[in-house]
Amino acid sequence: MTRILITSALPYINGIKHLGNLAGSMLPADVYARFQRARGVQTLYICATDEHGTPAELGAAAAGQDVRAYCDEQHQIQRDLYDRFGMSWDHFGRSSSVQNRILTQRFAQSLWEAGFIEARTTQQVYSNADKRFLPDRYVVGTCPHCGYDAARGDQCDNCTRQLDPVDLIKPRSAVSGSEDIEIRDSKHLFLRQTAFAGKLRDWITDKKGQWPLLVTSTALKWLDEGLQDRGITRDLEWGVPVNAADWGPNPAGERPDVEGLAGKVFYVWFDAPIEYIAATWEWAAAFPGADPADETSYERWWRAPLASDVTYVEFMGKDNVPFHTVGFPCTLFGLNETQTADGAWRPASNAPWKVVDTLKGFNWLNYYGGRFSTTHQRGVFIDAALEILPADYWRWWIMANAPEGSDATFTWEQFQAQVNADLADVLGNFVNRILKFTETRFEGAVPEGGEAGPLELKLYADVEAKLAELTENLEAIEMRKACQSLRQLWVLGNQYLTEAAPWTAIKTDPERAGTAVRTGLNLVALFGAVSEPFIPFAAEKILGAVGLPFKDWWPNGTGAEVLNRLGVGRKVAAPEVLFKKVENEQVAEWIARFGGPEPA
Ligand code: MF3
Ligand code: ZN
Repeated sequence: MTRILITSALPYINGIKHLGNLAGSMLPADVYARFQRARGVQTLYICATDEHGTPAELGAAAAGQDVRAYCDEQHQIQRDLYDRFGMSWDHFGRSSSVQNRILTQRFAQSLWEAGFIEARTTQQVYSNADKRFLPDRYVVGTCPHCGYDAARGDQCDNCTRQLDPVDLIKPRSAVSGSEDIEIRDSKHLFLRQTAFAGKLRDWITDKKGQWPLLVTSTALKWLDEGLQDRGITRDLEWGVPVNAADWGPNPAGERPDVEGLAGKVFYVWFDAPIEYIAATWEWAAAFPGADPADETSYERWWRAPLASDVTYVEFMGKDNVPFHTVGFPCTLFGLNETQTADGAWRPASNAPWKVVDTLKGFNWLNYYGGRFSTTHQRGVFIDAALEILPADYWRWWIMANAPEGSDATFTWEQFQAQVNADLADVLGNFVNRILKFTETRFEGAVPEGGEAGPLELKLYADVEAKLAELTENLEAIEMRKACQSLRQLWVLGNQYLTEAAPWTAIKTDPERAGTAVRTGLNLVALFGAVSEPFIPFAAEKILGAVGLPFKDWWPNGTGAEVLNRLGVGRKVAAPEVLFKKVENEQVAEWIARFGGPEPA
């Protein structure tokens, strides 16, 4: 039996995330984790806030707060919102944790001593006005590729190209706006990614056909364009300090330039993925009675041989793919293997770290065809979303429209139409109809009824086939298709009830009506269980209505078995309204509040 380790890309600490952020990382990871747990697979779902680097420093500066205090507060705000959104992670950690500092420094040391890290003198943007270096997002300017005039030093938001701050045309400080800028020398560490080019290509090529095309093609494109060694340190105050004084000599016998590297921190993209591992350590250390120093606790999930039965699945949006197919794997390869003088590779330890087994990448979820934007506060953010509707509406719509094959677009009109049809008309109505009828005509208890007739036998077969399809789609992490299967399952229930029509049968053939009601209530129980990964809050109410505990089960029997679970006489009760319809007036109000189609 395999165990499943799931991580979703770590949300940056600065500010509340929008629905587009959720669509490609945390939400599908949560659905998948819930599905695996329901089937009884030992599952660990880990996430954390990504707290270092320029996003945190700039966010704190804008809020007029000390960075640590800012991160403490923002972490709590995000954590509360994700809880309300139904995120079921086993641990939601922080990349500023002690564990992450220890692992990041230890990994860097190993990489240095193995010869995979090099020190180089580089040119950095320095602001005379601010009296500091301006790495990454601290500089803005004109993109040399597309001419966008608000490109950030690390990436152009318009054409999405990765940039180097010194490439920007007309650079200015993001702190003060000052254009009084010069280029200064500064010593930095580089991870020798180029050493791994061949390994990476073999590894990615091997995943073709297994991972989404988006992922393998993005990774191969990077490799084709020529891999670069990557700067993994920055001239910043906030981050994991470079601990070069502790390091031993590299294979050439050189010690790091301790003085030249003084006061620097690791680049956020170096320490953030390591936090996947460190957060697992945080999780293990948080157990009552656990020894916080005991590393076997998290190594059980991350290092062979303890973790040999673990399948590691990562979720992320497409902008994160390069860092997870090149950057982080290089860190891990460099820990796991060494290269001999003749270029051959051999294992560096008998406890290698786990490298991702399944990488699920997503395209963008857009807002009326344009990008959701944190910078421009365009679109719907989680706090506002939860203020106007319960989490399940969002969870359902986002997963049913997951940007898998291509980008997807949110519009209020389509959102209204879909949640009203699927959740209110199909699922909600079904549950309500059968339970109300049971209350009025069968004293709120599962009736005995009679033998299954042709309608039931057909239903058993249809449900069995649809369930198999749903399970398969979830195993394959095909969220859109999984939602389609689930919706079709709900529809089967409605069709059955319409045809079996217990409300008519009761007049002439009460036993027949009893069969239909018994079957209908079993459908309710089934829907509660299989809907749980997507709409956990409603699922809890649905299962409660037929007296079942939450999250107990994933159906894997025959149609006849899964539709005859409820004992005769079991008490049931109609739940409060599961899904209110979204009204036209609400849509008009929300378009006015959040913005709708851009004026032409
Ligand atoms: N914070 C990054 C983003 O939102 C994702 C970091 S993923 C990790 O794009 F692997 F680095 F943790
Ligand atoms: Zn650009």
